[in-house]
Amino acid sequence: MKIRPFDLERYFAKYEFSVKHVMSASDCETMTVAELMAMAGDEEMETWSDLRLHYTEPKGHPDLLKAISKTYQGISPENLITVVPEEGIFLAMNALLEPGDNVVALSPLYQSLLEIPRSIGCSISDWPIVLDGDSWRLDMDLLESLIRPDTKLLAINFPHNPTGFHPTEREFRKILEIAAKNGIWVFSDEMYRGLEPSPGTRLPSAAEVYPKAISLSGLSKSYGLPGLRMGWLACTDSDMMKEISGLRDYTTICGSAPSEALSILALKCGDKLIGRCQDIVEKNTAVASEFFERHQDLFGWIPPMAGSIAFPELRENTPADELFTDVLDRKNLMILPGSVFGAQGNHFRIGLGREDFPECCRILEEYLDER
Ligand SMILES: Cc1ncc(COP(=O)(O)O)c(C=O)c1O
Repeated sequence: MKIRPFDLERYFAKYEFSVKHVMSASDCETMTVAELMAMAGDEEMETWSDLRLHYTEPKGHPDLLKAISKTYQGISPENLITVVPEEGIFLAMNALLEPGDNVVALSPLYQSLLEIPRSIGCSISDWPIVLDGDSWRLDMDLLESLIRPDTKLLAINFPHNPTGFHPTEREFRKILEIAAKNGIWVFSDEMYRGLEPSPGTRLPSAAEVYPKAISLSGLSKSYGLPGLRMGWLACTDSDMMKEISGLRDYTTICGSAPSEALSILALKCGDKLIGRCQDIVEKNTAVASEFFERHQDLFGWIPPMAGSIAFPELRENTPADELFTDVLDRKNLMILPGSVFGAQGNHFRIGLGREDFPECCRILEEYLDER
C-alpha cells in the first residue's frame, strides 16, 4: 500500500508533545482514570480490578455494544463494531471501495477520508464548504452535479473539522436523499456529534436513517477521552458489517480490554461527560469571540455552529504558515495553519475544547502586541 503522509498527524507528531501550549487541538479536555471512576460510581472500581487482560470479543464487549446502541435510535448491537476511530475509516473505506471508484468528498476534510480512498485507486471529487460572508455553507446543486455513474461513496463529516460548520436537519436529510436517489453509500464521520450548542440542533446519525450509511463515532472528541482510542462504526447493512469485521482480523483483531472496561464506564455517565465538554467549548467560544473582536483588523472570526473547532481567517498578506511558525518559535504556542488541510484561503484551526484556551489567547495577544 502506498499512501501520502498524513500532513495533520505529522504536524501534531512534531509539536504536540514538545510545545507548551496547543491552541488547535480538536479533542476536549481529558481526565484521569480516577476522575472517570469517581464519576461512574463505586461498583465500577471492582469491575476494573477484576478485569482479565485476555483477548476480547472481535466486535466489542457485549456490554459496550449495548451501551453504544443506547446512544442511537434503532441501532442494535448487531449493527455496531468497535474500532480505534482512525482504524474505522481505514476498514470502512477498504471494505467499500475498489480501484476506479469515484468518491465525492466534502472539502476541506480530515485527510484520511480522502487519502485512504486515493491509496485504493479511487478518484476524488471535492464538494467544497464555501465561506459566504461570515458563515460557511453548502451548495446542494453542486453536490448533485458532482455525482457520476462511477461514484460509489459520499464522504461527509458533521460537526465539521476544521470549519465548525453544521447543517440543519433539513439540509442533512437532503444530502442523504441525494445519495439515496443515486444509490451511493455515505460515510458519515460523526466524531464530534454531541457537541451541538443546543440539543435541537443534533442531527440524526446517518446510520439511523439511511441503510447505505456507515457512521463513525467514538469517545475521542465529544467525551474528552481520546487516550481510550475507542470508536465504533454503525451500519444496518449486515453484509457490509461482515466485510468490515473480516478486514479487522488484519488490523487489530479486537479491542484492548482496559479500554473496553473504561469505555463502558464512560458511556454510563456519557451525558455528564459530554455536558462537561460542551461547557468548556461554550466558555471558550465566548473567550474567542472577545479575542477576535479585539483583533478584527487581523482576523475574520466565524464561530463554530457545532463541534470543538473553528477555522478563522488571517486577513493579511503573511501566509498563516509563516505567522504561526514565528508564534511557535517565539511563544512556544502551536496553531495549525489551514494548509495542513489543503484548504483554500488563509485560514487556521483553533480548538475550543481545552481548559488552557484562554491562556493560549493571552499568549497570542502578547505576541501580537510585541510584533
Ligand atoms: C473528523 C475526524 N475523524 C476521525 C478522527 C480520528 O479520531 P482518532 O484520532 O480518535 O482516531 C479525527 C481526529 O482528529 C477527526 O477529526
